[in-house]
Amino acid sequence: MLNNLEIKLKKGKINFDGILLFLCKECEAHLQMDVLPKQAAATLQAYLTKNREFFKVGKIANLTYVEGKNLQQIFVVGCGEGKECTSQNFRKNAGEVARFIQKQGVKNILLYAPILNNPVRGKHLQAIVEGMYLGVYDFSEFKTALKKKDVITFNIQTTIKDAADIIKKATIIAESVCFARNLINRPGNVVYPEIMANFAKQVAKENKLKIEILDEKKLLAKKMNAICAVGQGSVHKPRMIVLKYNGNGKAPYTAYVGKGITFDSGGISIKPTDGMGEMKDDMSGAADVLATIRAVAQLKLKVNLLVVLACAENMPGGNAQRPGDIVKAANGKTIEVITTDAEGRMVLADAVWYACELGATKVVDIATLTGAAIIALGRETAAIVANNDELAQKVIDAGKAVGESYWQLPTFEEYHELIKSPVADLKNSGGRSGGTITGGLFIGEFIKKGVQWVHLDIGGTSFVDRTHGFKPQGGSAFGVMTLIKLGEN
Ligand code: BES
Ligand code: MN
Ligand code: ZN
Repeated sequence: MLNNLEIKLKKGKINFDGILLFLCKECEAHLQMDVLPKQAAATLQAYLTKNREFFKVGKIANLTYVEGKNLQQIFVVGCGEGKECTSQNFRKNAGEVARFIQKQGVKNILLYAPILNNPVRGKHLQAIVEGMYLGVYDFSEFKTALKKKDVITFNIQTTIKDAADIIKKATIIAESVCFARNLINRPGNVVYPEIMANFAKQVAKENKLKIEILDEKKLLAKKMNAICAVGQGSVHKPRMIVLKYNGNGKAPYTAYVGKGITFDSGGISIKPTDGMGEMKDDMSGAADVLATIRAVAQLKLKVNLLVVLACAENMPGGNAQRPGDIVKAANGKTIEVITTDAEGRMVLADAVWYACELGATKVVDIATLTGAAIIALGRETAAIVANNDELAQKVIDAGKAVGESYWQLPTFEEYHELIKSPVADLKNSGGRSGGTITGGLFIGEFIKKGVQWVHLDIGGTSFVDRTHGFKPQGGSAFGVMTLIKLGEN
């Protein structure tokens, strides 16, 4: 059970008070009306005959029929026609309809879709289960007067052979995404670097993962001055957290590295008041990679994965770093601090270096790095900056399969010029133009030669401003499903 939903396979006869039907235009021909009670079939038939628009993507029809003394409900969700009948649409529609049903007072539902009687459509089943669990997610742990929600059970009718395994897999993935969403949505007074380390310890313990936690003393001993510079203005000192999952013998490790700024005030280059509270989500990348390794371990994927969480709080204060400071990162390169608000790339400088140090041959970093990513691509698509086009394409393909979209930005030589400093090796801001690209390229300067690297800027996608599809308002944990899929591939 997750978010008060229970999704299970229908075995034998069940009593239900509602029917949920996913239907695309082509599916209509495969509708087996005998699966449904007589009155339900008649009601549905009458509706479908009269409403030829029923299959429009995302359209939800709420029909009722009488059986004995009871008023029963049918929910029909349109899943499009032809090419629109995709897992991505199923995931979105499942999220919408699950939220809708939650408000209707029904508790025990028969879930039926003709497509789920097609043995090769396991992907669609997975998408439906993920979409429903994720769509009804809500963050309410700080509401003290909340009524307990009723549990709603969905009983899935399908002939897909490995349906039980698929449902289990989808559940692990959805749980992991919700784990990340909870971390992201918790405010900065509750989640700070030390607390991130506690959550990481818990994940390590539950999944038998190796863990290393570097506190400020250990970070300074390893000359990771960049992450320490960012954290020095806060009473909550930084932590670099590493977890390791060994699922593929002696093969080389891939590293997922997450930006973990538990609150980004901007530091001395302080941000304007408007919307500053949203910056509690600036540890989305770190939450995402922690959730990913949790899922990868539980799915027992045959990969070697290490994750690095680069956690610090960016605050102004008497000991805070200042614009003009020059800091030497762990790889020996010096950084001129143009603005203390470009802190993400500084913590990641040391973190990606450390991932390379630990022997990773591929590094994917994920970060709410720039507001410019919102300007460039909006709130549905994340930006990619990479030194290896094949690995970038693999991320894009993995994202496509799970309903998360990416767009790769160019890395021409001219952009590199923008982050050279007159007084140090690099400066931490190349100015407003091309901000997402130069932010990414800065991180690339700390990747060891020969290591494949992809940077994901989720500045636009980490926070959902209006509830839709499988994304309720708040932290989205965008990227978790992509990174799991990438591990699978
Ligand atoms: N965490 C922010 C980026 C951000 C801002 C993401 C708003 C989503 C919404 C990051 O640390 C930051 O402040 N970036 C600066 C970089 C600039 C100073 C070079 C930005 O985007 O303005
Ligand atoms: Mn910032
Ligand atoms: Zn930030």
